[in-house]
Amino acid sequence: MHDSANQCVNRVDNSGLAMLTLPAFLRRHNYNPPEDKSDTAFAQGNRVTPDEVTFFQWLKNRPENAKTFNIFMTSHRPGAKTPFDNPEVIKKITDAFEKVTARREGGKAKGVSLVDIGGGIGHQCKAFKKQVPNLGGTIVLEDLEEVVANAELEDGIEKVPVDFLASQPIQGAASYYFRSVLHNWPDQYTRKILGHVRDAMDQDSLLLLDEMVLPDRGAHRYETQLDLTMLALLNAEARTRTHWNELLTESGFEVEDIIFYEEEARQSIIIAKKV
Ligand SMILES: C[S@@+](CC[C@H](N)C(=O)[O-])C[C@H]1O[C@@H](n2cnc3c(N)ncnc32)[C@H](O)[C@@H]1O
Repeated sequence: MHDSANQCVNRVDNSGLAMLTLPAFLRRHNYNPPEDKSDTAFAQGNRVTPDEVTFFQWLKNRPENAKTFNIFMTSHRPGAKTPFDNPEVIKKITDAFEKVTARREGGKAKGVSLVDIGGGIGHQCKAFKKQVPNLGGTIVLEDLEEVVANAELEDGIEKVPVDFLASQPIQGAASYYFRSVLHNWPDQYTRKILGHVRDAMDQDSLLLLDEMVLPDRGAHRYETQLDLTMLALLNAEARTRTHWNELLTESGFEVEDIIFYEEEARQSIIIAKKV
């Protein structure tokens, strides 16, 4: 196991408690978990305080755990591909950047090529920059204030503290990217988060969801593990292709493409536009 993953298992092991509590939690809810983000197996197992409604608020009160979690997110897939290693994905983002900035004051120089929403300490922004070092414009990292405060970024990447349940401050970027974020949120919150992004998007902007897209039947064991972990921690889930399609349609998007960029890890990127 990678070193940081090891530390994470030791220190954020409260997710293990959530898994142990899951059977009792499910029984209590008649095997029909509530969509409430505060009533989770994680909360039941860890006796959280009233201001620790979600796992992320619990982390906020524990800076050491939060630090480990954020480092873990940068390196839990050592050597893994990112969607930005895929030329088709890069072409779609650069085409969108051309179109969006052609209509905006300041053109490419003032444009934003990618907003990484809930991007942790900026590892995916750096991976994107590496693939398109001369695209122009700015890459924006968004996350909670206490998380972006610890991001060490290079030129061309800016940080913006954001609560994505409340707003999306960057208007008219070429692409709005989420990796492993929306599977943390039940549908009612995901619709809210997507609604803010939709309102900020240009007609040619892309929504990019870097997620596992489960088949409707016969999911791989990695996918079912992710699904159970999300259920235990956050009352959330890994979604099937049909579920993603329905959720995006309800939130005012049309799916253009789903690219499986790393088959063995079941990782894919959903590319959608606002309707
Ligand atoms: C599972 S991590 C994914 C991090 C990163 N995207 C990655 O794939 O490595 C979820 C991220 O969502 C952020 N987050 C949680 N609640 C948030 C909120 N209300 N507003 C902004 N970011 C939030 C967390 O701080 C965390 O960085």
